[in-house]
Amino acid sequence: MIPSFDIRGRVAVVTGASGGIGRALASAFAEAGAKVVGTARRAEALESWLRETTGVTAVVAGDIAGPEAAGRMAEALAEPFGPPDILINAAGLNTREVADDVTVQGWRATIDINLATPFFLAQAFVPAMKDKGWGRILNIASLQSERAFPGGLAYGASKGGVAQLTRAMAEAWSPFGITANAIAPGFFPTELTAPVFDDPARAARNAAQTCIGRNGELRDLVGPALFFASSASDFVTGQVLFVDGGFTAK
Ligand SMILES: NC(=O)c1ccc[n+]([C@@H]2O[C@H](COP(=O)([O-])OP(=O)(O)OC[C@H]3O[C@@H](n4cnc5c(N)ncnc54)[C@H](OP(=O)(O)O)[C@@H]3O)[C@@H](O)[C@H]2O)c1
Repeated sequence: MIPSFDIRGRVAVVTGASGGIGRALASAFAEAGAKVVGTARRAEALESWLRETTGVTAVVAGDIAGPEAAGRMAEALAEPFGPPDILINAAGLNTREVADDVTVQGWRATIDINLATPFFLAQAFVPAMKDKGWGRILNIASLQSERAFPGGLAYGASKGGVAQLTRAMAEAWSPFGITANAIAPGFFPTELTAPVFDDPARAARNAAQTCIGRNGELRDLVGPALFFASSASDFVTGQVLFVDGGFTAK
């Protein structure tokens, strides 16, 4: 009995598809045969992803931050291929404001895109997943779901929230064939982590903290994401998987 990692023909919506982790997962899922709708604000970056990617793909540009925007965008995201079977919530930001200087604006922006959007987008897509009796929600958590880092007050609060949101989604929707899980990446080079990787000593310290001895490469996230998005993980829900080279193991 070999479990199926096959996602061919599944419809996947990937937020944050203009760069970094979202873009890498959107490309991998398209290559694996899913019909992928990528979304983010930067239309040009989405168009370039569309051109560079093989498979059945579409893009919808727009701001998805917060409950109202997520609800509005959900309709547009279901247009190209119908409502998704798979939702990957990869859009996010990190203001890096230190605790004493956290602004109301920074706090709200962080909680909106990192925590509110994954929930309200999922809530909009769940009725169709229930009708099909199958759905997959994949959130992107963080080392900061569990650990505190300097300048991570709002970000860490949002990512701690993502871990619990994932469990609460699983509790609510798993009886309908919809699983909710999260990947918590270690350090991966993207626009979001440019301040880390622009400092070689800091990047090296993070690599040394892992068991494997290096920071992440975007391809490291593909296998775990395919596992969570396919029937191979039918009995796995409400989990946060640290894909961090063992950073949190030591
Ligand atoms: N890189 C890492 O090491 C790491 C580690 C742990 C967790 N994460 C998490 O992984 C996720 C992806 O991060 P990343 O590293 O890939 O960062 P990134 O390269 O900066 O990508 C963030 C994505 O989110 C989109 N986005 C941001 N605000 C948006 C908004 N208001 N509306 C629509 N889209 C929006 C951005 O697109 P536009 O600017 O075009 O809108 C971009 O595509 C985030 O949740 C992040 O917290 C990353």
